[in-house]
Amino acid sequence: MATSEWTNSSVSKTYARWAPIYDLVFGSVFEQGRRAAVAAGERVGGRILEAGVGTGISLSYYKPTSRVFGIDLSEKMLAKARERVREQGLTHVEGLAVMDCEKLEFPDNSFDVVSAQLLVNTVPHPLVALEEFARVLKPGGEIILLNRIGADKGARLAVEHMIQPVVKKLGWRSEFPWERFEEWLNTSRYGMHLIDRLPMPPLGHFSVIRFGKHAKS
Ligand SMILES: C[S@@+](CC[C@H](N)C(=O)[O-])C[C@H]1O[C@@H](n2cnc3c(N)ncnc32)[C@H](O)[C@@H]1O
Repeated sequence: MATSEWTNSSVSKTYARWAPIYDLVFGSVFEQGRRAAVAAGERVGGRILEAGVGTGISLSYYKPTSRVFGIDLSEKMLAKARERVREQGLTHVEGLAVMDCEKLEFPDNSFDVVSAQLLVNTVPHPLVALEEFARVLKPGGEIILLNRIGADKGARLAVEHMIQPVVKKLGWRSEFPWERFEEWLNTSRYGMHLIDRLPMPPLGHFSVIRFGKHAKS
């Protein structure tokens, strides 16, 4: 699918529809992956950006001593996150803001960790988003993704292409092969490298992926 057909406005509309039932549908199925991503972020520590925080489903997994800022394109998803923060008294959440992760309103080197769970496959220009994450990340910091990795070739790739028009209406892309991440690593201006990639349920098609930004020497 041409990325030009994929717009922030279509994404916002789709997630406005998901907001009331999102946690019910996508809560427990991705819990292990979200918890693993949160734990990886807390091992780095410092200031954490949760990009595409959605309903704030992962915010309750952080320790009270963490410092987390959440952003999302969808006001309706974010309203759920605000409710969660208020009801659960999540004092580690420094702020929540409507923001496009392809145009982050933060200066360079603002965060020790950028965490994005199930986000990269939903944005119009995934490599632009990844490069923005790298920009706002401090040297020595980590980008931590929970992401579905699409097939590189074969029958699974053919199926992913076939179902893309339907899946797009639900708010994400079915195909996103590992080579897109490699393309980004090879072209990034910020000296990014892969740290590791850990398969996660369901079906092992998802991974927690850690990228590091080289510390200044
Ligand atoms: C599949 S949901 C993931 C939500 C949450 N991170 C989770 O673990 O369930 C994708 C989220 O990304 C948000 N999103 C999509 N495009 C975005 C963009 N360009 N900037 C910020 N958020 C975006 C959507 O509004 C939605 O809340």
